[in-house]
Amino acid sequence: MDRPVILECRKVWKIYGAQADSFLTRNSRPKKGELSAAGLIGAVRDANVQIHKGEIFVIMGLSGSGKSTLVRCLSRLIEPTAGEIFFEGQNLLSMPEKDLIRIRRTKMGMVFQQFALLPHLTVLENAAFPLDVQGVPRAERMERARKVVELVGLKGREGNYPRELSGGQQQRVGIARSLAVEPDLWFLDEPFSALDPLIRREMQDEFIRLQNMLHKTIVFITHDFDEAIRLADRIAVMKDGAIEQVATPEELVLRPATDYVAEFTRHVSRSKVIRAVSVMEPLAGDSFAGEVPHDARIEQIADQVEASALPHRVMQDGQAIGQITRQAVIDVLVGRR
Ligand SMILES: Nc1ncnc2c1ncn2[C@@H]1O[C@H](COP(=O)(O)OP(=O)(O)OP(=O)(O)O)[C@@H](O)[C@H]1O
Ligand SMILES: [Mg+2]
Repeated sequence: MDRPVILECRKVWKIYGAQADSFLTRNSRPKKGELSAAGLIGAVRDANVQIHKGEIFVIMGLSGSGKSTLVRCLSRLIEPTAGEIFFEGQNLLSMPEKDLIRIRRTKMGMVFQQFALLPHLTVLENAAFPLDVQGVPRAERMERARKVVELVGLKGREGNYPRELSGGQQQRVGIARSLAVEPDLWFLDEPFSALDPLIRREMQDEFIRLQNMLHKTIVFITHDFDEAIRLADRIAVMKDGAIEQVATPEELVLRPATDYVAEFTRHVSRSKVIRAVSVMEPLAGDSFAGEVPHDARIEQIADQVEASALPHRVMQDGQAIGQITRQAVIDVLVGRR
């Protein structure tokens, strides 16, 4: 990826329990068993991550695998036990508290799973709340709040109180509120997990629409792989506090780095993830049934390619870079690739 790195963590540890610091000083890379034998919890173990400007970086893993802890360390909402964190090249861990607060308030946005709206404030006032904290004058505050409330599809509900909204609508207010500060870097910790599946899909679509307009850098936590592959540019898979692999959804499925990742991705519908370019072959002959874009998912082109015995040309920047056959598509669909 050639976009600049906006946030980076190196060898970050977060260990809970008595004398976690001194334990890590004596043994700088303890194994999971060594930690538990000492009565400690390795919530994050030796995490290295680079997040690039404009990407959606998804952190996945089962409950308790350390996702929230890692994200809270990245924004230094909690203090890592060891390691380094850089935001736009500045070391977040050695930064004076007041600079850190300023960065958090003006450059970072956070959405947590619990909506945490203020019950006695309206939708508009909730959205404007972080700007109030920043000292933005009232008129500007309300104008910006109005804009973000509209952006998340709640125009007309500005005067309602949280208790008058559905779960999905409340979550939209939470999203509007975090957008009001116009963050460069946006953290979302399982923002849709409390929603039922239909609303959840709707929110994902909405989220994709927002991102296409706003182009934020996003760190998004989920334990739902389908959600991850819909949203992610890259995914980090966590297990027991450690990052097992960081890769595109397609790489995770085609080249899992560990048995755990392979198991984790085994039930994924491969045709949703694998792209034409990954299963094409060199051009042969000169009869083709048509063309498909190189980055099309197999799911999107399956009907078209399957309909003909002739191969389709795979196109990138106006050039044919290979061909894709009916057989290749069938192999993906039946799980042979
Ligand atoms: N303040 C704390 N004190 C002790 N242990 C903690 C604390 N916070 C988190 N942990 C432990 O650290 C581990 C990682 O927790 P974390 O909340 O990061 O998991 P998660 O991946 O976000 O899980 P979930 O999907 O359930 O939200 C867990 O074993 C948890 O019990
Ligand atoms: Mg969590």
